[in-house]
Order: sequence, then C-alpha cells, then structure tokens
Amino acid sequence: MNPAQHISWHDAVSDPQTIFDQLKEKISSRTAIVGVVGLGYVGLPFAVQSALAGFDTVGLDLARDKVISINEGHSYIGDVSDTQLQEAITEHGLFATDHFAALADCDVVVVAVPTPLTKNLTPDLGAIEAATQEIALHLRPGQLISLESTTFPGTTEEVMKPILESSGLTAEQDFFLAHSPERVDPGNHQFNTKNTNKVVGGIGPNSSELASLFYSSTVDHTVTVSSAKAAELVKVFENTFRSVNVALVNELAQLCDRMNINVWEVLDAAFTKPFGIMPFYPGPGVGGHCIPLDPHYLEFKAREFNFQTRFVALAGEINRSMPRFVVEKAIRIVDQSGVALSRSRILVLGVAYKSNIDDARESPAIEVIRGLVERGAEVFYHDPYVRSINEHGVLMLSSDLSPELLGSCDLVIGTTAHACTDVAWVVDNSREFLDTRHMTKSIGTRPNVHLL
Ligand SMILES: NC(=O)c1ccc[n+]([C@@H]2O[C@H](COP(=O)([O-])OP(=O)(O)OC[C@H]3O[C@@H](n4cnc5c(N)ncnc54)[C@H](O)[C@@H]3O)[C@@H](O)[C@H]2O)c1
Repeated sequence: MNPAQHISWHDAVSDPQTIFDQLKEKISSRTAIVGVVGLGYVGLPFAVQSALAGFDTVGLDLARDKVISINEGHSYIGDVSDTQLQEAITEHGLFATDHFAALADCDVVVVAVPTPLTKNLTPDLGAIEAATQEIALHLRPGQLISLESTTFPGTTEEVMKPILESSGLTAEQDFFLAHSPERVDPGNHQFNTKNTNKVVGGIGPNSSELASLFYSSTVDHTVTVSSAKAAELVKVFENTFRSVNVALVNELAQLCDRMNINVWEVLDAAFTKPFGIMPFYPGPGVGGHCIPLDPHYLEFKAREFNFQTRFVALAGEINRSMPRFVVEKAIRIVDQSGVALSRSRILVLGVAYKSNIDDARESPAIEVIRGLVERGAEVFYHDPYVRSINEHGVLMLSSDLSPELLGSCDLVIGTTAHACTDVAWVVDNSREFLDTRHMTKSIGTRPNVHLL
C-alpha cells in the first residue's frame, strides 16, 4: 500500500451514487484495500483469507507482540499455520501494524475485537467503541465498515453508526456499514473461515449490497439477510441454541447421576434416531469466548423490550452448575477411597475449553480446579496445548504427565478430550479416573473409571 495513494476526502467526489459505484468496482476488481481490526482467533484467520483471496490486506491490533509476530511470519492462532501466514505475507502482501492511521487507506474495514461481559454479566462494548472511534478518526467517503464481533442486535446501527457519523459523514451515502458475524470454530478441520457460510446484513440496501459483494469475494458462500440487526441476531441465536441444548443434556447428566443411569448410553441410543434429534453431549460446563457469554448479550437487549429470555437464563444457570457438580462427584469418589478431599491430590487433565485447541478462556476446567482448591485439595493440571493458566484468580503451570504423577494422585479428572491423550495409558496409571467427556468410550468399562 502506497501512502501517496491516500487522498484527502475533501477533494474526493461526494455524489453518493459515484461513491457507491467506485467502491463496488474496487471490491469487484479486488483492488479494494482491506483492514482487519483485531487480530485474534477471528481476525487473523480472516486477514489471511482476505489476502489469499487477492485483496491487499493490513491487520491492525493494539497488541504489539501480535503485530510483531505476524510480520515475522509466526502465527499464534492454531487454525493459521506459519506456512499459510507466510504465503499471505510474501505472495499477497499481508502485514500488520498498530498504527491506526493505516485505516485511512482501507476501502473495507472488518472489525473483530472482543465482546466480553462485565462482572454483572452485561455486555462490555468497550473494544467495539474504541475501535469504532479509531475508524471514525480516519473515516473518508467510500469505505465499508463491517463488524464481525458477536453482539446483541442493534450494536452496528445504534452504537457504531453514531460514532462513525460524528465524523460528519453519513452512513449509506458516504460510507457503508454492515454486520457479518464470524462463525469460526477453532480446531475444526472440516469447516474454516473460507468454507463456512457467511451471514451478511447491512444497515441499509447499499451497505448490504457492498458487504455481500465483499464477502462473496473472500469466502465460498454468503447468506444475505435484510438488516444488520437480523445478522447480529442470527449469531447470538446460534450460540444460544447450543447453550440451551448443552444445558439440556447437562441437566440429564445430573438426573442420571441421581438415578444411577449411564447418561452416555442413553444419549448414544437416543442419537441413533435418524430424524428429529441431533447430538449434544454433557461435560464439565461450557467455556470459550462464545457460548457462556453471547446468550447474555441477547438477554440484555431483550430487557430493553421488557422481555425475559427464560431459556437463556435457565441454560446459563444449568451450564454454570456443572463445574460444581464435577467437584461434588470428585468428593464422593475420593471419599469412597477413604481420603478426605482436603488431604487429596487431584490431577485435572485438560484445561482448554474444548478438545485440540489451546484456548482456556472461560474454561469450566478452571472452575473445577478452583472448586477443588477451595476445598483444600492439592491440584495439578496437565494440558499439552496450554502450558500455563492465569484465569479468574487461578495461576498454574501445566505439570508433565508421568506414571509417577498419575500414581501419586488420588483422582484424575478428564476435563478435555484432546486427541493426543493416550486415555488407556492414563487410566492404567491412575488410581481413580473421573471421565467428564466420555473420553474412555473407546477403551470400554474399567473398574477405576467413573463417568459423569
Ligand atoms: N474465538 C472464537 O471462536 C469466535 C468465534 C466466532 C465469533 N467470535 C467473536 O469474535 C470476536 C473476537 O473474538 P476473538 O476470539 O477473535 O478475540 P481475541 O481476544 O482472540 O482477539 C481480539 C483481538 O482484538 C484486539 N483488540 C482489542 N481491542 C482492540 C482495539 N480497540 N483495536 C484494535 N484491536 C483491538 C486484541 O488485542 C486481540 O488481539 C468476539 O466478539 C467473539 O465473540 C469468536
């Protein structure tokens, strides 16, 4: 990208139709310059995809270490290999920066910053607002801004648009604004940023058309909905759907425990029905940046309409109760071995929130560790993907897995089923094994294995 290409927007044409046509032509011919703000699990794969699709792409992030790592060709995201990143850099000119003035040169700006919750479980839009303010500072006619962060319906139009329009420019005429939720599933080898259908909705028809055109130039298939709000709700609904269904099987697991019925056997049999049901499995709780958080975004917005999203609240309550349920089950198991939990040594196997990834954010395994430590147990963890954790007050290093460590523990709790775990070997070397993920399914019944 040549800084000399940047022209003052005051000199540029201001006729809305011309602005629209020129951006459309730039996107169609792939001469549009793309900026991706926020280079995490969502932003980095998208920036690489955008570059590989033929767009000059610049990634922007506040985190200097990420910027340096990208420019050195080292990926810190499991789904992006160094080879892919280096190809995007050397053959397609991808680069990263923390100088937000680069936004002025971008024709399309994709925003993929975090959307966490506050302590009171309300949306924290701080990162979206800060990123939008940066974009507003550099906004010029002929830019398309697309928010990919997961958020409640209305964020793009009610939060971002006023900030962007404070620049003096008008949405739908001078610049265009859309929402296109990211559906990336870290660790999924079948579906990635490119081949996962992309939902797109603009704040008006011009924004919709340009955003659809842009995304259909970068990914395999797009699904255009009538508004940014609808696109926002699609994503929040998808995650709520998952949360509710996981809660249903988690509740069943708690009931089966009382009734002394094997929940895994019940579910495996239930899922043989070829219609009207789909598989969801229980576990130690839900984790990651999406399922535990996003439904609360919907709950928050619904309150504005004097509407209670009861499924959301109930699912959250059940899913959050699972780490406690695992701890209670652990107490029962060590009790039966004649050891008080406060004198026991326990190994937690896996702290990533799901298998084969390195992300431990909001991981239920960390809540399990916390619950055990609070009750006086000496707790270790092992996770080949997560060398250390520093989450919610739990600060630990992964211990090396050895027959000595396994044998010295009163209980091993399988909390994440990484494919690389030799489950038979772990079980053989453990005194007692509490399996919260049915990771022992392939090795059959063992006397020292306790299923969730
Ligand atoms: N991780 C997933 O699997 C996933 C899947 C779909 C959607 N999402 C959603 O996508 C969004 C991003 O999630 P993520 O997992 O990529 O987050 P992340 O924490 O991995 O990455 C976010 C990046 O944004 C940067 N950032 C924060 N504030 C910024 C600012 N003002 N300007 C520039 N950069 C800034 C951070 O430094 C970080 O590198 C969230 O809304 C999330 O809910 C995540």
